[in-house]
Amino acid sequence: MSGTVVVACGGRSLEREISIRSGRRAATALRKLGYETEIVDPDHGFVRRIRELQPAFVFVALHGRGGEDGTLQDLLEILEVPYTGSGVHASARCLDKHSFKELLARERLPTPAWHSFNSPAFAEFGAADTLEELIAQLSLPLVIKPAREGSSMGIKFVRDPGEFGQAVLGALSYDDRVVIERYAAGRELAVTVLGPSEDPSPLPIVEIVTDEPFYTFRAHYEPGEAVLSIADLDAETEAAVTQAACAAYAAADCRDLGRVDIILDGEGVPQILEINTIPGLTETGPTRFAAQAAELSFDQLIEIIVARVADRTLP
Ligand SMILES: Nc1ncnc2c1ncn2[C@@H]1O[C@H](COP(=O)(O)OP(=O)(O)O)[C@@H](O)[C@H]1O
Ligand SMILES: [Mg+2]
Repeated sequence: MSGTVVVACGGRSLEREISIRSGRRAATALRKLGYETEIVDPDHGFVRRIRELQPAFVFVALHGRGGEDGTLQDLLEILEVPYTGSGVHASARCLDKHSFKELLARERLPTPAWHSFNSPAFAEFGAADTLEELIAQLSLPLVIKPAREGSSMGIKFVRDPGEFGQAVLGALSYDDRVVIERYAAGRELAVTVLGPSEDPSPLPIVEIVTDEPFYTFRAHYEPGEAVLSIADLDAETEAAVTQAACAAYAAADCRDLGRVDIILDGEGVPQILEINTIPGLTETGPTRFAAQAAELSFDQLIEIIVARVADRTLP
Protein backbone atom coordinates (compact mmCIF):
# COMPACT_ATOMS: atom_id res chain seq x y z
CA MET A 1 0.00 0.00 0.00
CA SER A 2 1.23 3.47 -0.70
CA GLY A 3 0.31 6.93 0.54
CA THR A 4 0.31 8.52 3.95
CA VAL A 5 -0.62 6.54 7.01
CA VAL A 6 -2.35 8.31 9.85
CA VAL A 7 -1.61 7.04 13.33
CA ALA A 8 -4.55 8.03 15.53
CA CYS A 9 -3.53 8.26 19.17
CA GLY A 10 -4.14 10.33 22.27
CA GLY A 11 -7.83 11.10 22.38
CA ARG A 12 -9.69 12.00 25.52
CA SER A 13 -9.97 8.71 27.37
CA LEU A 14 -8.24 8.17 30.70
CA GLU A 15 -5.70 6.05 28.83
CA ARG A 16 -4.61 9.04 26.73
CA GLU A 17 -0.99 9.00 27.86
CA ILE A 18 -0.67 5.28 27.21
CA SER A 19 -2.23 5.74 23.79
CA ILE A 20 0.32 8.42 22.92
CA ARG A 21 3.10 6.02 23.88
CA SER A 22 1.55 3.22 21.80
CA GLY A 23 1.00 5.58 18.85
CA ARG A 24 4.55 6.93 18.84
CA ARG A 25 5.98 3.44 18.85
CA ALA A 26 3.67 2.36 16.03
CA ALA A 27 4.55 5.48 14.01
CA THR A 28 8.27 4.80 14.36
CA ALA A 29 7.75 1.22 13.18
CA LEU A 30 5.60 2.36 10.24
CA ARG A 31 8.28 4.84 9.15
CA LYS A 32 10.86 2.07 9.26
CA LEU A 33 8.54 0.02 7.08
CA GLY A 34 8.66 2.84 4.54
CA TYR A 35 5.35 4.60 5.20
CA GLU A 36 5.02 8.33 5.33
CA THR A 37 3.36 8.71 8.70
CA GLU A 38 1.34 11.45 10.30
CA ILE A 39 0.30 11.32 13.96
CA VAL A 40 -3.21 12.69 14.55
CA ASP A 41 -4.67 13.28 18.01
CA PRO A 42 -8.41 13.17 17.27
CA ASP A 43 -10.40 16.28 18.16
CA HIS A 44 -13.19 18.36 16.56
CA GLY A 45 -11.15 18.68 13.39
CA PHE A 46 -10.64 14.94 12.96
CA VAL A 47 -12.93 14.43 9.95
CA ARG A 48 -11.52 17.48 8.17
CA ARG A 49 -7.96 16.37 8.89
CA ILE A 50 -8.59 12.90 7.47
CA ARG A 51 -10.18 14.40 4.35
CA GLU A 52 -7.18 16.66 3.91
CA LEU A 53 -4.61 13.91 4.36
CA GLN A 54 -6.52 11.23 2.45
CA PRO A 55 -4.52 8.48 4.14
CA ALA A 56 -4.10 5.02 2.64
CA PHE A 57 -5.30 3.81 6.04
CA VAL A 58 -5.49 4.81 9.67
CA PHE A 59 -3.53 2.91 12.30
CA VAL A 60 -5.79 3.16 15.34
CA ALA A 61 -3.78 3.30 18.55
CA LEU A 62 -6.46 4.76 20.81
CA HIS A 63 -7.29 2.99 24.05
CA GLY A 64 -10.52 3.22 25.99
CA ARG A 65 -13.63 5.13 25.08
CA GLY A 66 -13.62 7.28 21.96
CA GLY A 67 -11.23 5.04 20.10
CA GLU A 68 -11.29 1.45 21.23
CA ASP A 69 -15.10 1.44 21.36
CA GLY A 70 -15.91 2.02 17.69
CA THR A 71 -16.38 5.80 17.90
CA LEU A 72 -13.59 6.69 15.52
CA GLN A 73 -14.20 3.57 13.45
CA ASP A 74 -17.78 4.75 12.70
CA LEU A 75 -16.36 7.90 11.13
CA LEU A 76 -13.71 6.05 9.17
CA GLU A 77 -16.43 3.79 7.75
CA ILE A 78 -18.35 6.87 6.53
CA LEU A 79 -15.19 8.41 5.09
CA GLU A 80 -14.36 5.04 3.47
CA VAL A 81 -10.88 5.06 4.94
CA PRO A 82 -9.53 1.63 5.90
CA TYR A 83 -8.23 1.20 9.42
CA THR A 84 -6.41 -1.35 11.52
CA GLY A 85 -8.13 -3.43 14.13
CA SER A 86 -11.64 -4.56 14.86
CA GLY A 87 -14.70 -3.04 13.22
CA VAL A 88 -17.34 -0.88 14.86
CA HIS A 89 -19.51 -3.53 16.46
CA ALA A 90 -16.74 -5.78 17.70
CA SER A 91 -14.98 -2.75 19.21
CA ALA A 92 -18.10 -1.51 20.98
CA ARG A 93 -18.96 -4.94 22.33
CA CYS A 94 -15.48 -5.70 23.63
CA LEU A 95 -15.12 -2.37 25.39
CA ASP A 96 -18.36 -3.01 27.26
CA LYS A 97 -17.63 -5.77 29.79
CA HIS A 98 -21.32 -6.45 30.45
CA SER A 99 -22.22 -7.10 26.82
CA PHE A 100 -18.94 -8.91 26.14
CA LYS A 101 -19.48 -11.28 29.07
CA GLU A 102 -22.99 -11.89 27.89
CA LEU A 103 -21.61 -12.97 24.53
CA LEU A 104 -19.18 -15.32 26.30
CA ALA A 105 -21.98 -16.83 28.34
CA ARG A 106 -24.08 -17.35 25.22
CA GLU A 107 -21.13 -19.09 23.55
CA ARG A 108 -20.60 -21.18 26.69
CA LEU A 109 -17.13 -19.77 27.16
CA PRO A 110 -15.95 -19.49 30.77
CA THR A 111 -16.11 -16.07 32.45
CA PRO A 112 -16.59 -15.27 36.15
CA ALA A 113 -20.29 -15.12 37.11
CA TRP A 114 -21.54 -11.54 37.27
CA HIS A 115 -24.37 -9.05 37.47
CA SER A 116 -24.58 -5.49 36.29
CA PHE A 117 -26.64 -2.40 36.93
CA ASN A 118 -26.59 1.18 35.77
CA SER A 119 -26.39 4.47 37.58
CA PRO A 120 -30.17 5.20 37.63
CA ALA A 121 -30.72 1.78 39.25
CA PHE A 122 -28.27 2.81 41.97
CA ALA A 123 -29.37 6.41 42.36
CA GLU A 124 -33.12 5.96 42.03
CA PHE A 125 -34.13 2.35 42.66
CA GLY A 126 -32.03 1.17 45.57
CA ALA A 127 -29.63 -1.11 43.70
CA ALA A 128 -27.33 -1.15 46.75
CA ASP A 129 -30.03 -3.16 48.56
CA THR A 130 -29.32 -6.12 46.27
CA LEU A 131 -26.04 -6.70 48.11
CA GLU A 132 -27.47 -9.68 50.01
CA GLU A 133 -28.40 -11.48 46.78
CA LEU A 134 -25.12 -10.51 45.13
CA ILE A 135 -23.13 -12.00 47.99
CA ALA A 136 -25.29 -15.13 48.06
CA GLN A 137 -24.82 -15.67 44.33
CA LEU A 138 -21.27 -14.46 43.75
CA SER A 139 -19.78 -14.65 47.29
CA LEU A 140 -17.17 -12.34 48.78
CA PRO A 141 -14.90 -10.82 47.70
CA LEU A 142 -16.86 -9.17 44.92
CA VAL A 143 -15.01 -7.49 42.08
CA ILE A 144 -16.58 -4.15 41.20
CA LYS A 145 -15.63 -2.53 37.90
CA PRO A 146 -16.89 0.14 35.55
CA ALA A 147 -18.39 -1.56 32.48
CA ARG A 148 -16.36 0.45 29.99
CA GLU A 149 -12.94 1.36 31.29
CA GLY A 150 -9.48 -0.10 30.97
CA SER A 151 -6.08 -0.42 32.63
CA SER A 152 -7.78 -1.47 35.89
CA MET A 153 -9.21 2.00 36.45
CA GLY A 154 -12.08 2.08 38.94
CA ILE A 155 -11.70 -1.58 39.93
CA LYS A 156 -12.29 -2.44 43.61
CA PHE A 157 -12.37 -5.72 45.50
CA VAL A 158 -15.09 -5.76 48.13
CA ARG A 159 -14.14 -8.05 51.03
CA ASP A 160 -16.44 -6.51 53.59
CA PRO A 161 -20.12 -5.75 52.75
CA GLY A 162 -19.61 -2.27 54.23
CA GLU A 163 -17.27 -1.39 51.34
CA PHE A 164 -19.86 -2.12 48.66
CA GLY A 165 -21.54 1.29 48.33
CA GLN A 166 -18.26 3.19 48.04
CA ALA A 167 -16.88 0.73 45.51
CA VAL A 168 -19.99 1.01 43.32
CA LEU A 169 -19.99 4.80 43.59
CA GLY A 170 -16.33 4.79 42.62
CA ALA A 171 -16.95 2.62 39.56
CA LEU A 172 -19.95 4.76 38.59
CA SER A 173 -17.72 7.81 38.53
CA TYR A 174 -15.98 6.19 35.53
CA ASP A 175 -19.03 4.93 33.67
CA ASP A 176 -22.80 4.87 34.10
CA ARG A 177 -22.79 1.08 34.34
CA VAL A 178 -21.05 -1.15 36.82
CA VAL A 179 -20.15 -4.85 36.61
CA ILE A 180 -20.14 -6.94 39.79
CA GLU A 181 -18.13 -10.07 39.25
CA ARG A 182 -17.20 -13.20 41.17
CA TYR A 183 -13.59 -13.11 42.27
CA ALA A 184 -11.47 -15.64 40.39
CA ALA A 185 -8.39 -16.69 42.31
CA GLY A 186 -5.65 -17.92 40.04
CA ARG A 187 -2.89 -17.09 37.60
CA GLU A 188 -3.08 -13.93 35.54
CA LEU A 189 -2.63 -14.66 31.82
CA ALA A 190 -2.81 -12.63 28.63
CA VAL A 191 -3.13 -14.08 25.14
CA THR A 192 -2.48 -11.81 22.18
CA VAL A 193 -4.32 -12.98 19.09
CA LEU A 194 -3.63 -11.85 15.54
CA GLY A 195 -5.44 -12.36 12.25
CA PRO A 196 -9.03 -12.51 11.04
CA SER A 197 -11.85 -13.76 13.27
CA GLU A 198 -12.25 -16.81 11.02
CA ASP A 199 -8.64 -17.80 11.50
CA PRO A 200 -7.26 -16.46 14.78
CA SER A 201 -3.58 -16.89 15.36
CA PRO A 202 -2.45 -16.82 19.01
CA LEU A 203 0.94 -15.64 20.24
CA PRO A 204 2.51 -17.43 23.22
CA ILE A 205 0.60 -17.15 26.51
CA VAL A 206 2.05 -14.52 28.82
CA GLU A 207 1.83 -14.82 32.60
CA ILE A 208 1.84 -11.68 34.71
CA VAL A 209 3.14 -11.71 38.28
CA THR A 210 3.09 -8.60 40.41
CA ASP A 211 3.53 -7.61 44.06
CA GLU A 212 0.52 -5.32 43.68
CA PRO A 213 -2.80 -6.73 44.98
CA PHE A 214 -3.78 -7.40 41.34
CA TYR A 215 -2.77 -6.22 37.85
CA THR A 216 -3.22 -2.56 38.77
CA PHE A 217 -2.66 0.51 36.59
CA ARG A 218 0.80 0.84 38.15
CA ALA A 219 1.63 -2.78 37.42
CA HIS A 220 0.48 -2.29 33.82
CA TYR A 221 2.85 0.55 33.01
CA GLU A 222 5.60 1.10 35.58
CA PRO A 223 8.68 -0.74 34.41
CA GLY A 224 9.55 -3.46 36.92
CA GLU A 225 6.15 -3.50 38.66
CA ALA A 226 5.03 -6.63 36.85
CA VAL A 227 7.13 -9.59 35.89
CA LEU A 228 6.08 -11.07 32.57
CA SER A 229 7.04 -14.54 31.43
CA ILE A 230 5.85 -17.14 28.99
CA ALA A 231 3.38 -19.17 31.04
CA ASP A 232 4.73 -22.54 32.05
CA LEU A 233 1.62 -24.72 31.57
CA ASP A 234 1.07 -28.39 30.86
CA ALA A 235 0.08 -29.12 27.27
CA GLU A 236 -3.58 -29.68 28.07
CA THR A 237 -3.98 -26.42 30.00
CA GLU A 238 -2.04 -24.52 27.37
CA ALA A 239 -4.40 -25.83 24.69
CA ALA A 240 -7.45 -24.95 26.79
CA VAL A 241 -6.24 -21.38 27.37
CA THR A 242 -5.33 -20.83 23.72
CA GLN A 243 -8.61 -22.32 22.54
CA ALA A 244 -10.67 -20.18 24.92
CA ALA A 245 -8.82 -17.04 23.82
CA CYS A 246 -9.26 -17.79 20.11
CA ALA A 247 -12.91 -18.78 20.55
CA ALA A 248 -13.64 -15.51 22.37
CA TYR A 249 -11.80 -13.52 19.67
CA ALA A 250 -13.80 -15.28 16.96
CA ALA A 251 -17.14 -14.98 18.78
CA ALA A 252 -16.64 -11.24 19.26
CA ASP A 253 -15.70 -10.92 15.58
CA CYS A 254 -12.37 -9.30 16.37
CA ARG A 255 -9.77 -8.82 13.69
CA ASP A 256 -6.09 -7.95 13.24
CA LEU A 257 -5.13 -7.82 16.91
CA GLY A 258 -6.58 -8.33 20.35
CA ARG A 259 -5.40 -9.25 23.82
CA VAL A 260 -7.53 -11.62 25.83
CA ASP A 261 -7.16 -11.19 29.61
CA ILE A 262 -7.68 -14.43 31.50
CA ILE A 263 -7.48 -15.76 35.05
CA LEU A 264 -6.54 -19.43 35.07
CA ASP A 265 -8.51 -20.57 38.12
CA GLY A 266 -7.68 -23.29 40.64
CA GLU A 267 -9.51 -25.92 38.58
CA GLY A 268 -7.47 -25.06 35.50
CA VAL A 269 -10.40 -23.26 33.83
CA PRO A 270 -9.41 -20.19 31.81
CA GLN A 271 -11.85 -17.57 33.11
CA ILE A 272 -12.03 -14.88 30.43
CA LEU A 273 -12.17 -11.32 31.80
CA GLU A 274 -12.12 -9.23 28.64
CA ILE A 275 -10.65 -8.60 25.20
CA ASN A 276 -8.68 -5.44 24.56
CA THR A 277 -9.21 -4.77 20.87
CA ILE A 278 -6.44 -2.18 20.91
CA PRO A 279 -3.98 -3.49 23.47
CA GLY A 280 -1.20 -1.25 24.67
CA LEU A 281 1.90 -1.41 22.52
CA THR A 282 4.15 -0.06 25.25
CA GLU A 283 7.46 -1.55 26.34
CA THR A 284 6.01 -3.02 29.53
CA GLY A 285 2.94 -4.64 27.97
CA PRO A 286 2.17 -8.34 27.46
CA THR A 287 1.59 -7.88 23.72
CA ARG A 288 5.10 -6.69 23.01
CA PHE A 289 6.41 -9.45 25.27
CA ALA A 290 4.40 -12.14 23.48
CA ALA A 291 5.58 -10.92 20.08
CA GLN A 292 9.18 -11.09 21.21
CA ALA A 293 8.68 -14.62 22.48
CA ALA A 294 7.34 -15.52 19.04
CA GLU A 295 10.54 -14.02 17.62
CA LEU A 296 8.68 -11.13 16.07
CA SER A 297 10.30 -7.74 16.35
CA PHE A 298 7.98 -4.85 17.16
CA ASP A 299 8.26 -3.69 13.52
CA GLN A 300 7.26 -7.15 12.31
CA LEU A 301 4.23 -7.14 14.60
CA ILE A 302 3.13 -3.81 13.12
CA GLU A 303 3.78 -5.16 9.62
CA ILE A 304 1.50 -8.14 10.29
CA ILE A 305 -1.32 -5.87 11.48
CA VAL A 306 -0.91 -3.57 8.51
CA ALA A 307 -0.86 -6.46 6.03
CA ARG A 308 -4.34 -7.38 7.24
CA VAL A 309 -5.69 -3.97 6.24
CA ALA A 310 -4.19 -4.44 2.78
CA ASP A 311 -5.87 -7.87 2.58
CA ARG A 312 -9.24 -6.31 3.28
CA THR A 313 -8.90 -3.44 0.85
CA LEU A 314 -7.46 -5.21 -2.17
CA PRO A 315 -10.10 -5.60 -4.88
N1 LIG B 1 -13.09 -11.49 38.55
C1 LIG B 1 -11.83 -11.21 38.87
N2 LIG B 1 -11.15 -12.01 39.72
C2 LIG B 1 -9.87 -11.72 40.06
N3 LIG B 1 -9.17 -10.66 39.58
C3 LIG B 1 -9.80 -9.83 38.73
C4 LIG B 1 -11.16 -10.07 38.32
N4 LIG B 1 -11.52 -9.09 37.46
C5 LIG B 1 -10.44 -8.29 37.34
N5 LIG B 1 -9.41 -8.72 38.08
C6 LIG B 1 -8.08 -8.06 38.17
O1 LIG B 1 -8.20 -6.74 37.67
C7 LIG B 1 -7.44 -6.58 36.45
C8 LIG B 1 -8.20 -5.75 35.44
O2 LIG B 1 -9.42 -6.37 35.12
P1 LIG B 1 -9.99 -6.41 33.64
O3 LIG B 1 -11.32 -7.09 33.70
O4 LIG B 1 -8.99 -6.97 32.71
O5 LIG B 1 -10.29 -4.86 33.34
P2 LIG B 1 -9.41 -3.71 32.63
O6 LIG B 1 -10.19 -3.36 31.40
O7 LIG B 1 -9.39 -2.59 33.60
O8 LIG B 1 -8.05 -4.26 32.31
C9 LIG B 1 -7.20 -7.99 35.97
O9 LIG B 1 -6.06 -8.03 35.15
C10 LIG B 1 -7.06 -8.75 37.29
O10 LIG B 1 -5.79 -8.53 37.86
MG1 LIG C 1 -7.60 -6.07 31.43
